[in-house]
Amino acid sequence: MEKTLVIIKPDAVKKNLIGEIISRFEKNGLRISALKKIYMNKKQAKGFYIVHKDRPFYESLTDFMSEGPIVVMALEGEDAISKVRKIMGATNPSQADAGTIRKDFGESIERNAVHGSDSAQSAAYEIPYFFSALEIL
Ligand code: CMP
Repeated sequence: MEKTLVIIKPDAVKKNLIGEIISRFEKNGLRISALKKIYMNKKQAKGFYIVHKDRPFYESLTDFMSEGPIVVMALEGEDAISKVRKIMGATNPSQADAGTIRKDFGESIERNAVHGSDSAQSAAYEIPYFFSALEIL
């Protein structure tokens, strides 16, 4: 069993898509280990996306991620990391496959509705960024 961190981003929360997005993961056999709705300030967003600190989109991405509430969750399942990435679709919604979350709800490469850990190493940084051991079931 593998765990991965998923974020429902401010654009999707604003559009009232929390339930719709969570149900897509559940319908694909993933289980919710941890879940909460939070507001991440600019500094916290910069810490979360620290691996992208030298990218040209770092400032804009962290402005966006701190513009409103988000939902963070740890999902568990067999091959959870790759399964989640498949359900989300390509980073750029215009390149995402039909039926994926980003194709259906993403607005742009930045405002792309969801985030999912891209590796076990990322998940090991991202899950404890939001959840203590006591909150992960
Ligand atoms: P995410 O899966 O959250 O990981 C990093 C985020 O940076 C990505 O989704 C996009 O929201 C954003 N991103 C990646 N590439 C670009 C880009 N070329 N321009 C703007 N934002 C980007």
